[in-house]
Formats: sequence, structure tokens, C-alpha cells
Amino acid sequence: MIQLRKETPADLWAVEALFDLCFAPGRTALSSYRLREDVPPVAALSTVAEDETGTIGGAIRYWPVRVGAHPALLLGPIAVHPTRQGEGLGAALMRDSLARAAELGWHRVMLVGDAPYYARFGFDKLTGVEMPPPTNPERVLGHNLTEGAWRGIRGEVTRWGDTPGHEA
Ligand SMILES: CC(C)(COP(=O)(O)OP(=O)(O)OC[C@H]1O[C@@H](n2cnc3c(N)ncnc32)[C@H](O)[C@@H]1OP(=O)(O)O)[C@@H](O)C(=O)NCCC(=O)NCCS
Repeated sequence: MIQLRKETPADLWAVEALFDLCFAPGRTALSSYRLREDVPPVAALSTVAEDETGTIGGAIRYWPVRVGAHPALLLGPIAVHPTRQGEGLGAALMRDSLARAAELGWHRVMLVGDAPYYARFGFDKLTGVEMPPPTNPERVLGHNLTEGAWRGIRGEVTRWGDTPGHEA
């Protein structure tokens, strides 16, 4: 029996250990981590999947970023423990947190990842949205939480604290 719940401060090291296990060593050297430095994740969206023994089998976090002057959510990391993959935990974490992001008033979400996995949640390739290098542009994907939210949105992705701007 798996339960989704908000990540709490007590989960921090279990979640970090899960990410370390699921990603290649040096994950924090990825360009997407430059956008997370010194910026807290969106606490209301950090979610864990916990089993009946209290073991965390999956987790997802989001960070706020700007694309040009426009706010967006950067989805990730998301990871599911190797012993629990293929049971739908990843999909449950994605769907639950995306619905909550929309309820919270966010308009658009982006991520760097495998299009064949994320297409099922409504993500497709973004054009003209530039992640810090080196990032393969084919892996820069976006999802509208409100209709047409990515229309006309282009430019560099910057850290939340770095770019002043208040446009929706
Ligand atoms: C990606 C991940 C979060 C998916 O979690 P999960 O709980 O196994 O996913 P689900 O059970 O909801 O879905 C499983 C399906 O996704 C597919 N899938 C998983 N990773 C995929 C990928 N990278 N590309 C394409 N399909 C993928 C599986 O083949 C399976 O397909 P099926 O439904 O046709 O059988 C998990 O595999 C994981 O933690 N991987 C390692 C870390 C990682 O790569 N994170 C994503 C960074 S981009």
C-alpha cells in the first residue's frame, strides 16, 4: 500500500539517498542544478511515495525558475527506487504534483528528460527555451498547466533569484 504525502524536513536524507541511488554519480554537476543553487524547492510540491513500512520508494521536487521574465516550474528530480520501478509510482507522483501545481496557480512546467517517458503526462519539446549549457535541446520539454501557457515563451532559463520580473 503506497501513500503519497508531502516531503517533510525529516525526509531530507532519505530523499537525497534515493536520488543518489537512482542517478549517475555527479548528478549535482548537471546544468539544471545551477538553477537550484541557493533556491529552495517549492515545498508544497515536494512529494514522497511511502510504503506501509515507512520506506520512501519515490520522490519528486520542483524548483521555481524564470524563462525570460516569465515564471515556470522546473520539474525534477523525480526518482523511484529500482525495486519499485514499473509499479506506477512515477506516474502517480507526476500526476498528483502537476495537479497541485495547477491548483497553486502555476501556469507552466518544464524539465530536462526523456520525451518518451514524459510525453504521457503532456510534455513535449520546447523551442527557443535555453537551459544553461551543456543541455541537449531535444530533452528540454514543457507542459501547459493553463491553456497556451508556453505560447510565445522563449529565452534563457535563469535562477529564480537572478531575474527580476513579475509577468505571468
Ligand atoms: C523514470 C522513473 C521516475 C519512472 O518511475 P516508475 O515508477 O518506474 O514509472 P511508472 O511505473 O509510472 O511507469 C513505467 C513506464 O515508464 C517507462 N519508462 C521509465 N523510464 C523511461 C524512460 N527513461 N524513457 C521511456 N520510458 C520510460 C517504463 O518502460 C514503463 O513503461 P510501460 O508503462 O509501458 O511498462 C524511474 O524509472 C526512475 O527513477 N528512473 C531513474 C531516475 C530517472 O531517470 N529519473 C528521471 C530523470 S529524466
